[in-house]
Amino acid sequence: MTETLTGQHVLVIGGARFLGAAIAERARAEGATVTIASHTPSDAPDRVHIDFLDERTIAAAAQRIGAVDHVVSLASLPHDVPIGLIERDSVVAALEAKVIGPLLVAKHFEIRRSLLLFSGVVGWRPGPASTIKGIANGAVSFAATHLAAELAPVRVNAISPGIIDSGAWDAKGDAKSGFLAGAAGRTRVGRTGTLEDITDAAMWLLTAGYVTGETIHIEGGRA
Ligand SMILES: NC(=O)c1ccc[n+]([C@@H]2O[C@H](COP(=O)([O-])OP(=O)(O)OC[C@H]3O[C@@H](n4cnc5c(N)ncnc54)[C@H](OP(=O)(O)O)[C@@H]3O)[C@@H](O)[C@H]2O)c1
Repeated sequence: MTETLTGQHVLVIGGARFLGAAIAERARAEGATVTIASHTPSDAPDRVHIDFLDERTIAAAAQRIGAVDHVVSLASLPHDVPIGLIERDSVVAALEAKVIGPLLVAKHFEIRRSLLLFSGVVGWRPGPASTIKGIANGAVSFAATHLAAELAPVRVNAISPGIIDSGAWDAKGDAKSGFLAGAAGRTRVGRTGTLEDITDAAMWLLTAGYVTGETIHIEGGRA
């Protein structure tokens, strides 16, 4: 690491839960001041309202909190259905959450040091009913490449997680353990990812001053 988070202001979009909450907590532990953005409005002093489906909330948040050193965007609104069942508005929302939202963040916010985006393994592993998510994740990687050129010297990178037991998969209920076991079996390291696997990578990318335009795959060497 060539930089430090001590005294830096980090905005974590999607920081109220799951991976985002773990990144927010870790950044605070590293000495950063953290603002959490959620699409659910809150009066908490360390919270700001950002809904990637509404550009006005992004502009208002930028106005309210001013310049930030780093932005991490974890927003996602997946539309995991077979192509014959896609709904236009949901496709647009999926792209707004992963791709267009971060572009609007780059438009409205003064970012001093780095922007970290979240892609995902499905971008590189096509499968049934994951076309929209795969395209969105792939576009995130290209967004990191192109924004790194446009925003330089501000650094822009992306993390592409494999299957991480972030809490988001709890929604699968009884099917969760089987799902995670199957995902673990498709990795070279034989396990699913942990919050720490991702927070380690995020802290490194936020402080690795010689790294920009990259997508880092944290997926256990998925076969
Ligand atoms: N966990 C995995 O296995 C895995 C695998 C591959 C990629 N990823 C990627 O890693 C990121 C984090 O995933 P996760 O596991 O923590 O859970 P997740 O459920 O995918 O997190 C999505 C985040 O999006 C935010 N969000 C939802 N609607 C939004 C909107 N309209 N505007 C702005 N933000 C919105 C949510 O925060 P609020 O509801 O508070 O706004 C939430 O924190 C995602 O981009 C996901 O695709 C995760």
